[in-house]
Amino acid sequence: MHYFDVYHRHFARFRGRPVTIVEIGVFHGGSLQMWADYFGPRATIWGVDIDPRCLAFQEPGINVVQGDQSDREFLKRLAAQVGPIDLLIDDGGHGMDQQIITMEELYGGVAKNGTYFVEDTHTSYWAESYGGGYKRPGTFMEYSKNLIDQLNAWHSESDSLRVDDFTRTTASMHFYDSIVVFEKGEITKPLNRKTGRPSFSD
Ligand SMILES: C[S@@+](CC[C@H](N)C(=O)[O-])C[C@H]1O[C@@H](n2cnc3c(N)ncnc32)[C@H](O)[C@@H]1O
Repeated sequence: MHYFDVYHRHFARFRGRPVTIVEIGVFHGGSLQMWADYFGPRATIWGVDIDPRCLAFQEPGINVVQGDQSDREFLKRLAAQVGPIDLLIDDGGHGMDQQIITMEELYGGVAKNGTYFVEDTHTSYWAESYGGGYKRPGTFMEYSKNLIDQLNAWHSESDSLRVDDFTRTTASMHFYDSIVVFEKGEITKPLNRKTGRPSFSD
């Protein structure tokens, strides 16, 4: 239930606008219907699921595509099909490779002021069923922690940490219990400007 406050904090600015929303993970279609209601009739909603039965949940304003979020070729075709994405919600299989491959393939397809939202990231702590494990390399949480460094790469003095597309296109990252959010933006090298009257000569 705590997701709803987080949704509203990050999604409210898209309401009533002609936005493209992609959700990985349809299940019985409940969230697609909720998004259609929340974002309004100008939004175009795409659901993606590996289960072909989810195709039954298409309706005006809601498209459903069948595919596997760990299949890079499928994700490339999906990105070309849907165009710039204003909001991507990953609520699919929640496996480590699924979350990381989807981010690697679709983050670039999110619009310059868009949002990338990953749910149920607690699976990063569950070893048996999801391939997680506390501080285990290869979990989505460890991947995200490394991206914190990449966000700050402007200030790096190390050759191992250099400005890249993520640094240039990510305005902020937000960590909640079980949710990680990336807010995009066009970021340029930070400037340091002093203001006020100088009070000391040195
Ligand atoms: C948690 S449910 C989605 C719930 C839905 N978003 C909601 O809130 O009503 C997860 C869904 O992800 C789908 N899924 C599992 N593995 C997947 C994969 N590799 N690619 C795409 N979808 C997958 C499952 O079939 C299932 O329908």
